[in-house]
Amino acid sequence: MPVPPTTLRRPARLVVLVSGAGTNLQALLDATSDPAYGAEVVAVGADRDGIEGLARAERAGVPTFVHRVKDHADREEWDRVLTEACLSHDPDLVVLAGFMKLVGPHFLGALEGRCVNTHPALSPAFPGMHGPADALAYGVKVTGATLFVVDAGVDTGPIVAQTTVPVLPEDDVEALHERIKVAERRMLVDSVGRMAREGFTISDRKVRFGSE
Ligand code: GRF
Repeated sequence: MPVPPTTLRRPARLVVLVSGAGTNLQALLDATSDPAYGAEVVAVGADRDGIEGLARAERAGVPTFVHRVKDHADREEWDRVLTEACLSHDPDLVVLAGFMKLVGPHFLGALEGRCVNTHPALSPAFPGMHGPADALAYGVKVTGATLFVVDAGVDTGPIVAQTTVPVLPEDDVEALHERIKVAERRMLVDSVGRMAREGFTISDRKVRFGSE
């Protein structure tokens, strides 16, 4: 039984969640300025104030929202509020781009299969918050970034795309992470654009673009 593809409107409506510098967000904002890209960033959300990611959205004229865990009674309430904020912008796809929180069960119930995250390591190696540092400490010669469909695990969801970079002998964590981020931004823009224009299917952990 073929799996029906998930199709997105044209242009696809993207909600992007960030926690920091927002260079991945910026790459998406730049790409979406071309109508041929097939997607637009309709809102940017964050789990903290005062970050460059939010400033980038404001400069681009994109609406923003902030929901900090500490402003809510518990993690469950935060999960609910974050989910409603995302849904209020009627997204086709939610992109976690350097969003440093695990989304909760309410979010997954509403958006699972329509949310992707980018992780600065080659999954399944080095999940969690310190992908570049863990890769460096392990002594791998190659690392990279992984775009995946978010599930309930930590960086465990079905893989949309991966990109590789070398680890150089003189690297520190910052130099390695910067090299990863250059490749990561390209991967994110390419893959989100394909998801938007071609649709995608997820079957037996395999993510395919289009309906093939
Ligand atoms: C990216 O490498 C992302 O994968 C990681 O944090 C970084 C965020 O970078 N979780 P930016 O905020 O998009 O510049």
